[in-house]
Amino acid sequence: MSKLLALVTLAIAANSVAAVGPWGQCGGLNYSGSTQCDAGLNCVKLNDWYSQCQPGQNQPTTPAPTTSVPTTPIPTPTTPTTTSNPAPTGTGWVPVPSASANGLQDKLYKRGKHYFGACADPNTLNIASNVAVLQREFGQVTPENSMKWDAVERTFHRILHNFRELMYVDIDAASRGQFSFGNADTLVNWATSNGKLIRGHTLVWHSQLPGWVNNISDRATLTTVIQNHIQTVAGRYAGKLLDQILAWDVCNEIFEENGTLRNSVFNRVLGESFVTIAFQAARKADPTAVLYINDYNLDSVNSKVNGMVSLVNRVNQANPNTIDGIGTQMHLQAGMGSTSQAVLTALAAANVKEIAVTELDIVGAPSNDYTQVVRACLNTPKCVGITVWGVSDANSWRSSSTPLLFDRSYNPKAAYTAIANIL
Ligand code: G3I
Repeated sequence: MSKLLALVTLAIAANSVAAVGPWGQCGGLNYSGSTQCDAGLNCVKLNDWYSQCQPGQNQPTTPAPTTSVPTTPIPTPTTPTTTSNPAPTGTGWVPVPSASANGLQDKLYKRGKHYFGACADPNTLNIASNVAVLQREFGQVTPENSMKWDAVERTFHRILHNFRELMYVDIDAASRGQFSFGNADTLVNWATSNGKLIRGHTLVWHSQLPGWVNNISDRATLTTVIQNHIQTVAGRYAGKLLDQILAWDVCNEIFEENGTLRNSVFNRVLGESFVTIAFQAARKADPTAVLYINDYNLDSVNSKVNGMVSLVNRVNQANPNTIDGIGTQMHLQAGMGSTSQAVLTALAAANVKEIAVTELDIVGAPSNDYTQVVRACLNTPKCVGITVWGVSDANSWRSSSTPLLFDRSYNPKAAYTAIANIL
């Protein structure tokens, strides 16, 4: 009798494994949930770690090819895109990120864009309220700090201090070729297991750069150092994540305000050629990632915007398909949302496949400015997505300016509601 009871209980338990609803996970390494999708949905493999229940028959069941930038079309959104908001042209098919229905990701995706993202890193991924908002609202994460040069190619040595205290001392000169990926891996693993896209940030940047790189003075050494850094960092996440590393900010903040190249070690030693060297190294390291040049203060059609467009056109004319996209960071003051449309239009006129808003935050978080930026992206076919530079004011790099969409208690602010209402 007891055996019979156990069998009945087992049968009931087996039958009660629910099918997975739209956009839910239905497979992947280490996944132990149901692999059955609700009627009308297909379980689509996005990568080795993540399969997703998606409506319709038109999505590819395998990720895009690995030898060139993907060319297959992006999947059809669940809600038809209106003619005034056409799908982004972009570089091709992008996996559908996982997020809650009616969150920002879901709403923006249904308007034909690939993602609404936020920056993150282990220091914010260990805050439960922050993670809950990321899971619900955002479909893409950008590592705020963990992939920067001084975070991955830098050596810390443990030494005993005063015979009692252990200290970590940065042995800067010894860090060439010594990589540590702890925080970057944590971010990538979290994103992958939660179905989020990743924008890699950043490979060549004058800031957060170890001193030994700044001290290089000959072309051959600096070229090799750039190539090795990019091959090791971008190469680490290529292929393993298939399409999950959606894009890389290959070169970051390389312009002065007047539109000429910044006086960095890269420009001093290599001149403008460092841009092509870096992008070609990134293409070799991760052939499916979309390669971006990214900068700040591109907030009105100014000399920096013109310098950016000229350089991108020059580089892509000399070597076609070198730079895929332009990122405008958009760390804005209140009132600056009004010029965002003109800027996106100017950047989209460059010879690139796509553009994106990559680090959005606005002092005081005025609803009007936020909605102007979102509308500008909606109205610009090449704009593929928006990333905000943090979730909550509690963790913003400019926290006292309260520039984000969620307050210090992770509650949505007026700007969040305003965006949700226009999407
Ligand atoms: O990791 C060290 C820690 O070991 C040390 O004890 C501590 C003491 O100051 O510093 C820690 O590093 C800090 C790092 O953030 C990680 O928390 C740096 O001092 C701090 O300068 C760094 O700030 C970051 C800044 O970039 C510089 O890299 C901000 O968090 C980050 O939001 C900001 O992001 C940049 C984008 O990458 C590029 N565009 C502008 C944007 C805002 O400045």
